[in-house]
Amino acid sequence: MMILIKLGGSVITDKRRYRTFNEETVSRLCNEIAESDRSVLIVHGAGSFGHVLAKRYALQDGLIDYGQVAAAARVQHDVRDLSSKVVDGLLKAGIPAVSVPPGSCFVMDGGRLVAEDTEAIRALASLGIMPVLFGDVVTDRKKGFGICSGDQLMEFLGGLFKPEKVVFVSDVDGLYDKDPKEHPDAVLIAEVTSATLAEVESGIGVDDVTGGVVAKMESMLRMSGDSRECVLVNGNVPGRLHSLLVGEEVISTTAKGGLA
Ligand code: ATP
Ligand code: IPE
Repeated sequence: MMILIKLGGSVITDKRRYRTFNEETVSRLCNEIAESDRSVLIVHGAGSFGHVLAKRYALQDGLIDYGQVAAAARVQHDVRDLSSKVVDGLLKAGIPAVSVPPGSCFVMDGGRLVAEDTEAIRALASLGIMPVLFGDVVTDRKKGFGICSGDQLMEFLGGLFKPEKVVFVSDVDGLYDKDPKEHPDAVLIAEVTSATLAEVESGIGVDDVTGGVVAKMESMLRMSGDSRECVLVNGNVPGRLHSLLVGEEVISTTAKGGLA
């Protein structure tokens, strides 16, 4: 059975500084994944390789003026560069993997991902070469282009590969009742449902064009179901991802019961 993991942009990069890669953290996380000996599929976010320029040029709004075109190409280049670094970490940890840029093989339609041809991804996975997808600028039939987030790709891959467990790795211990970086008294929510999500406050993250932590929880709830756990865990704490993967109890937030 397979575990689907998203390495969030807030853990693999410094989201405040353009193109800052957290090499040590990524290499540790890749080793934790390899040592868990579980069958996994990895998606990653864009962090400061995507959000900084995407926000400056309003790429999430689609094509408005041709000044955005060079920025769209630049962001595609930058997130491919980031993805090579992540895949390098996986290969060094002994996990065969290949970067699959969503903007080069899928399109969107009004912000919705249209992934008609999945043969190559499925074939790679069945060969044992992990296809690694990531948040990218993707062309859009209606808007010219748009941003496809790693969280959208998680939902897509969740449908395609039916993982037993879904894990989002971020830089916080889980979901709090308010942003823990701004409120030291924020309280961690161990289990979240549609009903309890309404009580959560989110300060949208630094330069995040894809919705922040509440949007992430909504997609986690959509992916959660009768028998599927969907967990948010802190990747900056050494060993925590490994413990979660091997089935130990860890500090985290579990989304349950689907999105009402
Ligand atoms: P992403 O989508 O960038 O991959 P990520 O998955 O790592 O990146 P973010 O979308 O950046 O995660 O969300 C995590 C951030 O959300 C945390 O760094 C935290 O500061 C912020 N945040 C805001 N409100 C909350 C909240 N109520 N609970 C937890 N984190 C919150
Ligand atoms: C965003 O992807 C993609 C771009 C800005 C090009 P994500 O939304 O998955 O990235 P993170 O994880 O929040 O950094």
